[in-house]
Amino acid sequence: MGHGKLKKFAENLGFHCLLQPSAADVLVKEEGQRELKLRSHAIRGNWNRDMFEKPAPIVLELGCGKGDYTIALAKRHPEMNFIGVDIKGARLWSGAKTATGEALPNVAFLRTRVEFLEAFFAPGEVSAIWLTFSDPQLHGSENARLSSHMFLERYRKFLSEDAVIHLKTDSRFLHEYTMSVIRANRLRVLAKGTDIYGTGLTVRPENEEGWDLDAVFQVQTFYEKMFLQMGLPITYLAFSPAHEGPYVPAADFDKDYWLEAEGPRRSFSHQ
Ligand SMILES: C[S@@+](CC[C@H](N)C(=O)[O-])C[C@H]1O[C@@H](n2cnc3c(N)ncnc32)[C@H](O)[C@@H]1O
Repeated sequence: MGHGKLKKFAENLGFHCLLQPSAADVLVKEEGQRELKLRSHAIRGNWNRDMFEKPAPIVLELGCGKGDYTIALAKRHPEMNFIGVDIKGARLWSGAKTATGEALPNVAFLRTRVEFLEAFFAPGEVSAIWLTFSDPQLHGSENARLSSHMFLERYRKFLSEDAVIHLKTDSRFLHEYTMSVIRANRLRVLAKGTDIYGTGLTVRPENEEGWDLDAVFQVQTFYEKMFLQMGLPITYLAFSPAHEGPYVPAADFDKDYWLEAEGPRRSFSHQ
């Protein structure tokens, strides 16, 4: 491991806004069981009391990397609390350093896998999720995509009734896949665009006042800037995950077609 990364990991230990639980904190092996089980972390249900200066609706950015949306939205919305989640400590270091340096009272970061979130958040504790340039998981199981029906089932365990999920991505594949999940579950699309800086957004009129749509155009993440330099259109989708009964998988997604359409993004490595 490089010296720079080690230095960041060491600094991470001193950031009050960064929670870095160990796997043992959230995974247990019960007597006689082969499978590991998730157990609740002490922060679950207590973020507003233990981490933030004042209680407020909580917004998550999942796969936040350097936490660009978390930091920018927190500055734009002091009336809300923001938590960036990622598995990579060296990337989280950037956001945690900025939040600490600027003494932002409504920012926190959580180093964990998105798969473990229900160990950290209680029912109704979260009011919105941003998925920013998530890995599209072009091959392999669709369940690994952060907008799959499996992940919606996990999010449901801690989202409030009127929650909104935002997906901003350069991957038309992931955008269309998510639209297919939305159709299969008859979810409500609130806003969408397949080339936001070109053709803009279509917004349901009743949602125009609903949230900070300007942020979609005015905040660009680290990866977004790279993809824009590659000339890739940026897509956006906001939807309500409200749904009765179990979520079902995408049914009409033409995987081969959208894989073909993925273009230069297909060979781009996130590492
Ligand atoms: C393409 S990067 C995007 C980072 C940032 N949102 C941006 O736009 O600059 C995807 C991020 O998702 C994180 N990630 C991928 N799968 C994850 C998982 N299962 N749990 C937590 N983080 C994950 C990666 O570590 C990486 O930082």
